[in-house]
Amino acid sequence: MTAPPPSTPIASSILPLDALFNNPLFAGGIGLASLGAAAAVARRTVIRGASLLKRRLLIDVEISKQDPSFPWVLAYLSQPRPAGGFVQSRLTRMHHLSMNTASRSIHNKPLHAQFLLQPGYGKHVIRVQDAYIAVNREKHNTANMQTGEPHETVTFTTLYAYRHVFEDIFREAHQLAVQAREGKTTMYTVEHTEWKPFGEARKKRPIESVILDQGIKDRVVADVKDFLASQDWYVDRGIPYRRGYLLYGPPGSGKSSFIQALAGELDFGVSIIDLSQRGITDDKLALMLTKLPPRTILLLEDADSAFVNRRKMDADGYNGSTVTFSGLLNALDGVAAGEERIAFLTTNHIDRLDEALIRPGRVDMTVRIGEATRYQAAEMWNRFYGDIDVDGKGLERFLKRLEQLELIAGEGKHTKTKMSTSTAAIQGLFLFNKNNMDGAIEMAEGLIPRKYVPEVQQAMKVAA
Ligand SMILES: Nc1ncnc2c1ncn2[C@@H]1O[C@H](COP(=O)(O)OP(=O)(O)OP(=O)(O)O)[C@@H](O)[C@H]1O
Ligand SMILES: [Mg+2]
Repeated sequence: MTAPPPSTPIASSILPLDALFNNPLFAGGIGLASLGAAAAVARRTVIRGASLLKRRLLIDVEISKQDPSFPWVLAYLSQPRPAGGFVQSRLTRMHHLSMNTASRSIHNKPLHAQFLLQPGYGKHVIRVQDAYIAVNREKHNTANMQTGEPHETVTFTTLYAYRHVFEDIFREAHQLAVQAREGKTTMYTVEHTEWKPFGEARKKRPIESVILDQGIKDRVVADVKDFLASQDWYVDRGIPYRRGYLLYGPPGSGKSSFIQALAGELDFGVSIIDLSQRGITDDKLALMLTKLPPRTILLLEDADSAFVNRRKMDADGYNGSTVTFSGLLNALDGVAAGEERIAFLTTNHIDRLDEALIRPGRVDMTVRIGEATRYQAAEMWNRFYGDIDVDGKGLERFLKRLEQLELIAGEGKHTKTKMSTSTAAIQGLFLFNKNNMDGAIEMAEGLIPRKYVPEVQQAMKVAA
C-alpha cells in the first residue's frame, strides 16, 4: 500500500494564482494598477502638499480697482527699468500688454501722445530685488452696479519669505504717484457716484497769474493758511474743522481761476460740483460730500442754482432733479457734511442767495471778485507786456484809453465808472495782441461790454 501521492488539489489550488502571476499580461496589469494607485496617491499628496505649501509658503495681496492704489500699482508695473528699452519693463515675461495712451498738446504742436504699456489681463512674472512675484490682473464677471464697469483686481503672489518686498513695491508705487502729481493740481469731478480725476492733473497755476483787486488775494490766502494751521484749535473746542468761502461777482472775473491757483499754492486738489448741472440731486450731493477726496478744496460752482430751484419748488411743488436750497444747506453743515473741509462757493448772482447761507459755519468769508479795476488792468498789462514796455509809456497810454472809454476810474479816484469790463476780456485782448502793445491799445474799444455797444455807437454818431 503506498501512500497516495501528494494531493494535487492543493497544488492545483495554488496553481491558478501562480499561473496568474506568472502570466506576464496579468502581472503587468497589476503592476500598472498599483503604479496608477500610487500615482493617484502621490498626486493627491502633491496637491495637498502644494496647497499646504501654498498656504504656508506663499503670500498674496489683492488690490481691487476701487482702491486708490490700483492705478499707482499699474503705473508702477509699467515703469521701465533703469536700463531702458522696450522689454526693459519690470515685467520679465510679458505676453499680454494693454495700452494706456495719454495725449496732450504741448507748445502748440498738434498732439503729443504718450504711450504707457501696462500689464494686460492675465498672469505675469516680475522680479523685485531677488524675489520673483506672480502678478495676476483679472477682470471679473461682476460689475459695479452704478457704473456698469466690471470689477477688476491685481493680485501679487510670492514666497512668504519674500513678503517684505510688498512693502517696498507699494512704497515705490506711492512715491511714483506722488512724483507724477508734483507741481500739478488734480481736479476731481463726480462720475456716477464716485469722485474721478478729471483729465490729467494740470500744471499748477501760479497764484501770481491771477490778478485780483488790491489786497483781496492776500486776505483769502492768509485766511485759508491760518485755518489749515489751526486744526488743534478746532478740535479742542469741539468745532467741526470746516471753513466756507463765497466768491461772487460777474462772469470772467477770475473766481474759478483763483480757486485753482489757491489749491496749487496749498498743494491741494480741487473737487468740483457744478450745482447748476442736471443730475446732481440733494442725496447725491450729500453722498459725495461724505467721501470727498482727501486734501482737496470742495468747489461748489453756481451756488445760486439751488435757490432758483427753491423758488421753482415753491411755485409748482416740483423740484426738478437738481439741488435744492435745503439740500445745499445740509451739505454744508448737516450730518452728512464731512468733518474736515474747505469749501468754496461761487455765484454770479449774490442777490439770489439767501441770508441763511451766509451764516458762519456755512460760509465764513464772503468776497466780491468784481469787474476789472485800474489796478488790475495795470497789473495784467505788466504781466503781458512788462518786458517790452520798458519805460512804462505803453501802460500809461493803455490806462488813459480805458479811462476815456469810461471803463476804469481815473488815477487815485474811486468813483464808479459808467461801464466796466472783465479781467477775462482784458486777458482776451492781450492774448489776441501778443507782443503788440499798440494793437492792444487800438483794440481796447472791444472791451466795452456788448450790452453798451449800441449806446456807445449812438453817442459816437451824435458826436460826429
Ligand atoms: N483776475 C484774473 N486774473 C487772471 N486771469 C483772469 C482773471 N479773471 C479772468 N481771468 C481769465 O479769464 C478766464 C475766465 O476766468 P474764470 O473762469 O476764472 O472766471 P470766473 O470768475 O470763474 O467766471 P464765471 O463766473 O463765469 O465762472 C480764465 O482764462 C482766466 O485765466
Ligand atoms: Mg467760474
